[in-house]
Amino acid sequence: MTAVLPDDGLMLGIETSCDDTGVAVVRPDGEVVAAAVASQVELHDRYGGVYPEMASRAHVDAILPTVRKVLTDADLRPSDLTAIGVTRGPGLIGSLVVGTNSAVGLGDGWGLPVYGVNHLRGHLRSADLDERRVDYPAMVLLVSGGHTLLAHLPAPGAVELVGSTRDDSVGEAYDKVARMLGLPYPGGPAIDKLAKTGTPDVAFPRPAKDLELDFSFSGLKSSVSRFLAANPDRAGGSGAADVAASFVDACLDVLVAKCRKALARYPSRCLVVVGGVAASPQVRAAAQQLCDEAGVSLCLPPLRWSTDNGAMIGLAAWDYLARGLDGRPRPDTSLTIADW
Ligand code: KG4
Ligand code: ZN
Repeated sequence: MTAVLPDDGLMLGIETSCDDTGVAVVRPDGEVVAAAVASQVELHDRYGGVYPEMASRAHVDAILPTVRKVLTDADLRPSDLTAIGVTRGPGLIGSLVVGTNSAVGLGDGWGLPVYGVNHLRGHLRSADLDERRVDYPAMVLLVSGGHTLLAHLPAPGAVELVGSTRDDSVGEAYDKVARMLGLPYPGGPAIDKLAKTGTPDVAFPRPAKDLELDFSFSGLKSSVSRFLAANPDRAGGSGAADVAASFVDACLDVLVAKCRKALARYPSRCLVVVGGVAASPQVRAAAQQLCDEAGVSLCLPPLRWSTDNGAMIGLAAWDYLARGLDGRPRPDTSLTIADW
């Protein structure tokens, strides 16, 4: 049984699962009324990755000022809001606890219901922010720092996981290879930029060829590491650009091959590509080429909604409200994409 959503309703979305404090106000149709992200990139850059304890503390400092900024930007009072949606997992437990506790406190104080949202469902819904794009049945490729998976969406809200990584996510591989090449954190954008200036002249392995729809990226990461150990002169300058281009090429080949197989196996009107790595221009171009060839449309969230943000959590929270899935949000680091 699903409830009818108020067209003029306003959902406050809060995302704190990793290293960004994202807050937004979103309408049920995906219109983003206001949004802000407090980034912790500078804090974690010196460690080459996210330092969990420092991430939780930074969320404590940032969360209320970011909520206040979004409400002020949109000229809204708490009494204008319909409800609050907050990420309850998966993610870093300390960061999730800060987000859910803050949301419960705000909900209690303002007399609003609070919905605990699965971060992965948030990424899925990011493709319908600003305008509706997803046409069902759909195939979704979710590529982020924490996850790499393929899921079939027969209808809105229904999710069947059809493939996932056996080890590292593709985002993790980007971040680790970036570190090997002395690039800043997060590695994705830095690798993309460098790869554009290089020639893909190193034949890195295309892992997981035999894993049906599952992925594996740790072998690729190790082979870049072995290559750089054997060829230290290629860790900098134009040599590094060629290594980055070769690494990106290997990732794209694997992602495209798996998506092609999934589209052939499951009825799909479109391919949805979401998650931080979907911000990569190379990934976007490769996905477009595949969709042209397969005769399906490509649904991509605008760049700003590809990486973690509060708007995707706000839009997903409307699905929870429609299904009556309220109750105190319980942080859970083990949620899969099929969970609510
Ligand atoms: O979705 P996201 O913001 O956070 C998680 O849920 O993990 O994804 C973060 C990941 C990081 O690994 C980052 O390096 C990668 O997304 N990323 C990119 C780009 N922007 C972020 N990877 C490739 N190209 C980009 N432009
Ligand atoms: Zn994410």
